[in-house]
Amino acid sequence: MKLAHFESIEPVCPSCRLHAAGEHPLTLATIAVRSHDSVIEGTLHCSNAACQLEYPIIDGIPLLFPDPRGYIADNIVHLTARSDLSAETESILGDCLGPNSAFDITRQHLSAYAWDNYGDLDPAEATDARARPNGVGRCLHAGLARVERRIDRPILDIGCAVGRSTFELAQASSQLVLGVDTNFAMLRLAQRVLSERKLRYPRRRIGIVHDRREFQVDFPAMEQVDFWACSGMSPPFRSDTFGLSVGLQLLDSVSSPHGLLSAIADVLHPGGSAVLATPYDWSPAATPIEGWIGGHSQRSIYQGAAEPLLRALLTPGAHPHSVAGLILRHEIPHFPWHTRIHDRSITVYDTHIVVAEAVETGESR
Ligand SMILES: C[S@@+](CC[C@H](N)C(=O)[O-])C[C@H]1O[C@@H](n2cnc3c(N)ncnc32)[C@H](O)[C@@H]1O
Ligand SMILES: [Zn+2]
Repeated sequence: MKLAHFESIEPVCPSCRLHAAGEHPLTLATIAVRSHDSVIEGTLHCSNAACQLEYPIIDGIPLLFPDPRGYIADNIVHLTARSDLSAETESILGDCLGPNSAFDITRQHLSAYAWDNYGDLDPAEATDARARPNGVGRCLHAGLARVERRIDRPILDIGCAVGRSTFELAQASSQLVLGVDTNFAMLRLAQRVLSERKLRYPRRRIGIVHDRREFQVDFPAMEQVDFWACSGMSPPFRSDTFGLSVGLQLLDSVSSPHGLLSAIADVLHPGGSAVLATPYDWSPAATPIEGWIGGHSQRSIYQGAAEPLLRALLTPGAHPHSVAGLILRHEIPHFPWHTRIHDRSITVYDTHIVVAEAVETGESR
């Protein structure tokens, strides 16, 4: 956790905030391991005497969830995972644990996201016209080109995964950028790119066979970037903190898309912008069907379509659940995003990009 980001963003206790107990700043209570500008291991405390929750910082990443015990219990395998094993030992472990083990699923996630985020920088990656890495960067810049307002506050990249969009945002602005995600394994990879300027990831060949890829990764303005573990739906930030919030391929990955839109409206300063992209690839494993934006209720006014419903949610008064404080300004109806599953499987998503602006609501601000 970079001290510059901690001091400038001034995070608040996500538990107190979620339970409407106020915005209580977190204090840096202990530092067990530090580098010149960052805390690598330590703890943050809630300053509310009635709460006093402790939030650990592990591998340079603060864990800022309203229920830290629950998050740690669910993610202990990732929090204590080793990153120093040789490719051969990792391969043997993968073979022993087999398909669908937590180890295998993590490797598949890292393979897919590291390939898209950094494959264009990998000297060993062959050019393949059917699948171009860095769809995430192209998607981001297509949305950013439609942001009309000047960005004069920190930037929040929600669901940043392994971090390419966060680095691109730093390059495109002069602001501090915070990449946040709930997936610790992906954040750790992003954090390692940040601290070592190097990427190492298991690139899936087929089945449970992965090849290790390792190469240099360097972007301008990396000092503006940091990565924190938290949920975009219960964020540890004061209202009005950010000048831009980005969420690429995120709306269909969260348990409450509407809750996420409301949380984005809240953390954005009036005049700030949101860039969101989604292929509406709904899955009940991520989002209960009641929360889907379209994709069901075929006999409803929008006949199950997603796009008009998202437009209505981002237009004040157009829907009973229109999001207070966010107004749709621009959209790109179709934008391609490739995901590489393995050597013989590439999925092309057709994403919908929207750019919205945060406005005063008079209610929540
Ligand atoms: C489909 S991936 C997209 C990743 C990246 N933005 C990209 O475009 O490559 C969705 C990401 O959102 C993260 N995510 C899911 N729920 C989240 C939440 N509540 N808050 C923050 N991130 C979340 C997932 O861990 C995953 O990394
Ligand atoms: Zn608290």
